Amino acid sequence: MPRMMINRRTALMQFAQFLAASPLLRADHRFSDHPDPVLDPANVFDFAKLAKARLDPLAWDYMDEGSDDETALRDNRAGFDKLIIRPHFLAHDVSRIDVSTTLLGKKLEQPIYISITGGKNCFFNNGEQETALGAGACNTMMITSGGIDSVLKSGKGPKVWWQFTTAAELRTKTQMTDFGDRLQDKGCSAISVTVDIYHVSHRERSIHNGLVRNWCQGNGIPRDVSGKLIYAPNDILWGTGDFPAPRPFPTPTWDNLQRLRESTDLPVVVKGVMTAEDTERAVKTGISGVIVSNHGGRQLDGVGGTIEALPECVQAAGGKIPVLVDGGFRRGTDVFKALALGATAVGIGRPYLWGLATFGQRGVARVIEIMRAELGIDMGMAGVASISQIDRSYVRRRTA
Ligand SMILES: Cc1cc2nc3c(=O)[nH]c(=O)nc-3n(C[C@H](O)[C@H](O)[C@H](O)COP(=O)(O)O)c2cc1C
Repeated sequence: MPRMMINRRTALMQFAQFLAASPLLRADHRFSDHPDPVLDPANVFDFAKLAKARLDPLAWDYMDEGSDDETALRDNRAGFDKLIIRPHFLAHDVSRIDVSTTLLGKKLEQPIYISITGGKNCFFNNGEQETALGAGACNTMMITSGGIDSVLKSGKGPKVWWQFTTAAELRTKTQMTDFGDRLQDKGCSAISVTVDIYHVSHRERSIHNGLVRNWCQGNGIPRDVSGKLIYAPNDILWGTGDFPAPRPFPTPTWDNLQRLRESTDLPVVVKGVMTAEDTERAVKTGISGVIVSNHGGRQLDGVGGTIEALPECVQAAGGKIPVLVDGGFRRGTDVFKALALGATAVGIGRPYLWGLATFGQRGVARVIEIMRAELGIDMGMAGVASISQIDRSYVRRRTA
């Protein structure tokens, strides 16, 4: 009997020592001991945790927030739970998976691209250039706000990239032609016109935080040694209660977009569409593609999630122009659902910013790699080997 007790105690002690020594059970293991920490995150949400821990809280809120009550922000994610994937087995040989696709005549390695985000300097120095290097490293299409000429010249940037504009600065046909010509010379593949930002929303986390919007275009959040925010005399804080002042020039309409389209050989794509009517109008105007987007829930609140708006836009496009979508895409299954509903490609914003904030260009590339791999695995498990095999029969609406 006493012998048994000693044995059991010894055994328990040995087991406890084994557990203590095991790297598997050390809480910090996953994010500190790996020979290459960029490979530690198991999914894109792990990058979000790391980014939140690393960033100034004001920078995190600026990236993470939506407008007003943030309902559109939440609806983007909630929309995916209302859709169920319907796999079809044995119809296709799934021994080799190909996630490549074609968009406006260009081959994309995967139907996942880097969407335009302003203010990257709050997340990483020279964030736009760093992102372009990441996009180049993982062969991903990028929509850029510009300033990546040196990266493009180095040959390390994205092979397919689109230029962002709101078209508000393109008032005359000459300005439009010059704009298009300059972009064509640089190897741009399309012009992406964001149409949902002629007025800027109330982003109330940033308003409460006292964020100065220009900080993220400049050197990030300025703090003194004690951590207090440093304000300059001309800083404009984000406020509420200011009725929109009249603008010196009219904001663009479909007529301007038609003129832009006629001024350049580059395809013109409209980003920010949420309805069948606007998709139809885009088709009639000769627009080359639409991006179903609610600006990541950062502009007009209450517009619903983008994955819910996608089917009516796809139907209105009637196969005449590609329909892209962004907003809340975090998983291969999210991308799969959008493809099944008829999207040609899916844009991401915050996920690659989480990668950028934690590991710079390598983080950007890794986030794309993870989502690409998830999509490939999900396709294989759903019974399809190529994007062209995915159709509407692979998804249904949740009934309860
Ligand atoms: C920090 C941040 C800045 C953004 N800036 C712009 C912008 O300047 N122009 C634009 O069209 N969209 C902008 N977006 C919206 C993205 O292009 C995209 O529509 C959105 O982020 C997709 O949703 P997701 O972040 O949930 O992936 C921004 C998004 C974020 C998160």
